[in-house]
Amino acid sequence: MTDKSEDLTVEIASLGPRGDGIAESERGRLYVADALPGERVRVRTGGKRGVGFVATLKEVVEPSPERADPPCRHFADCGGCSVQHLEDGAYGAWKYQLVAAALERVGFDPDVVAPLVRTEPAGRRRAEFSAFRPRASAARTFFGFHARASRHVVEIEDCLILHPDLMTLVAKLRTELAELVSPGARWDVSVTLAENGADALISANHAPGPDASLALAMFAEREDLARVSWKTGGEVEPVAMRRRPVLEVSGHPVDIPPGVFLQASAEAERALSQLVCDGAAGSNIADLYCGTGTFALPLAAGGANVMAVDGDGAAVEALARAAGTGGFGGQVRTEIRDLAKRPFTTAELKGFDTVVFDPPRAGAAAQAGELANSDVARVVAVSCNPATFARDARILADGGYALEQVTPIDQFVWSGHVELVGVFRR
Ligand SMILES: C[S@@+](CC[C@H](N)C(=O)[O-])C[C@H]1O[C@@H](n2cnc3c(N)ncnc32)[C@H](O)[C@@H]1O
Repeated sequence: MTDKSEDLTVEIASLGPRGDGIAESERGRLYVADALPGERVRVRTGGKRGVGFVATLKEVVEPSPERADPPCRHFADCGGCSVQHLEDGAYGAWKYQLVAAALERVGFDPDVVAPLVRTEPAGRRRAEFSAFRPRASAARTFFGFHARASRHVVEIEDCLILHPDLMTLVAKLRTELAELVSPGARWDVSVTLAENGADALISANHAPGPDASLALAMFAEREDLARVSWKTGGEVEPVAMRRRPVLEVSGHPVDIPPGVFLQASAEAERALSQLVCDGAAGSNIADLYCGTGTFALPLAAGGANVMAVDGDGAAVEALARAAGTGGFGGQVRTEIRDLAKRPFTTAELKGFDTVVFDPPRAGAAAQAGELANSDVARVVAVSCNPATFARDARILADGGYALEQVTPIDQFVWSGHVELVGVFRR
């Protein structure tokens, strides 16, 4: 097949991990946004993607009985949600299947997957927005989410996944940033709802300049934001520091550093934390890729001695302070370490009853390799990527661990993302 675009009528065979309908046509594999399995659709083929091609939906010739009206009016344009056009039961089954299929591909029995834990929409306490002002002299700033597969910015008037307080702030930020972003500039704006006010981090490839700094500081004052920070080239500077933002992480107050990793919804965090605490056993626990302590804090509060390790020094320091505030600092040891380059070795793992690990999307193959040779009795693996989790689970199983249960959690409602917790035992 050439890159030349053409109109085709195809059958959608399955729904892929990004929420695209996948068709195997005689011209090659096609990825069709908004199309559902079982549908006959007319599409226009586009550019190459992976082993196939993107195709744009032109007409649903025969709709699926599972097709539903998307509840959000921005669904057609916004890149935030990819699957709102599927009836709710089928949507849950798709999410479940993303995990079951990944495990089956590497030889596990998919029955090891427990029912999907659903979370409510409107629960996101953190989101990343984009502010962009085109170069044209009269152009205004666009503020919102990225459009699908594009750098265009979609101005969302309301959003079903954001916490309502975050949505209220979006409208105010849009007005505020309208004049501040200079022509041609793009700012990435991350906003977190802390317990004591919002925490905003703006990332751009230039310094804010005195006018924007002053305006942002006044905005923080007027809207009672806890903090506004600015990030350029890896350096984070405070623009307005009215109070240190404090977030409850698994029920423990943590001073959160700007831009630190956080579970995006409190409800999903509670579910993950409960599953990890239930899966862990013994008094000596290592929490690798610990972040600010979603698992280390409740494990230590429950009486365990915890070794907490992460590559982000600010996160580890915040965790240690929170453990001290909670009165169980003596049970928590911390280390700042690059676990991809320097995983905990089999020798270092000696003496731990349980190892928890929660790596970024790339997974933790090197760490799983060390664990496979260890005598740690239990491993609890948390992941946001079923494919790398399955790969790491296979390494552990080949080292003698039995995969007892995997629980998928739908933290990012209506997206292709799924979290999971897997429990392994020797
Ligand atoms: C998915 S987050 C999990 C954090 C924490 N468990 C939580 O639930 O809040 C992944 C964590 O891995 C850390 N990380 C990423 N790459 C790393 C590396 N190479 N070595 C150590 N930590 C790393 C990040 O700083 C982040 O805290």
